[in-house]
Amino acid sequence: MNPMLNIARQAALNAGDIIVRNINRLQRMQVTKKGRNDYVTEVDRLAEQEIIGTIRHSYPDHAFLAEESGQSGESDLVWIIDPLDGTTNYLHGFPVFAVSIALQINGRLECGLIYDVMRQEIFEASRGQGAKVDGHRIRVSKQAGLQGALIGTGFPFRNNNRWLDEYMEMLKAVIKSASGIRRPGAAALDLAYVAAGRLDGFWETGLSPWDMAAGTLIIREAGGFVTDFSGGETFLESGNIIAGNPKVYKELMKTIHPHLGALGAL
Ligand code: IPD
Ligand code: CA
Ligand code: CA
Repeated sequence: MNPMLNIARQAALNAGDIIVRNINRLQRMQVTKKGRNDYVTEVDRLAEQEIIGTIRHSYPDHAFLAEESGQSGESDLVWIIDPLDGTTNYLHGFPVFAVSIALQINGRLECGLIYDVMRQEIFEASRGQGAKVDGHRIRVSKQAGLQGALIGTGFPFRNNNRWLDEYMEMLKAVIKSASGIRRPGAAALDLAYVAAGRLDGFWETGLSPWDMAAGTLIIREAGGFVTDFSGGETFLESGNIIAGNPKVYKELMKTIHPHLGALGAL
């Protein structure tokens, strides 16, 4: 077992305690507005501090890229952290949110962990060692194509809605081909569900590295494909991501491609 994944698990569980403990207190908590449609709660910050503190305790020299505190430290080993993915859900008491923690070494994802706080499921992977949920091996689905497939996505929001028109065209095309579309509201969990075969594919535009880092490694270790919209590796930078089991990935790419417009060049 990768010792760094053990630390990530401990950090996620600690953060999960903070997130759960505060659910009932949420109405009374101070909430600040950040950007359009984006709220950061006190819980985000507390959970992130807890994660970074737990990891630093074991690895004082490692660096961090975290949603709330940004970049800190200088190292070839960088922890990429979303302390609470699905903040809007959390604020509304919609029980779909997760903690996402990944470790990159020299730019390559080495391990990733996503903790579904409400269901208490832990999805995790170390490079080359497969993917697991709660210790059991997971694989992407065997769905043979888009017909009959359940596809996850995220509707554009924040500044990202400049791609709304392109997105709506992609959505229409996928709705016509797939058996169902879901927008649960926590991208990290959507990716974990692709890895576990609960979703057959997923696409979204304008994500941040901390939404995707852990999930993309977990999908690849579960036998799935993950790329940007050109079939390349720049999804952590561009924020545009498409994933799925190999067959659904291929058809999903073919379906959204004609509607990318200027997005295709990013
Ligand atoms: C958001 C969620 C959502 C996705 C957004 C993300 P946050 O993360 O992952 O599903 O559509 O683009 O920003 O802000 O709740 O951590
Ligand atoms: Ca997020
Ligand atoms: Ca977040």
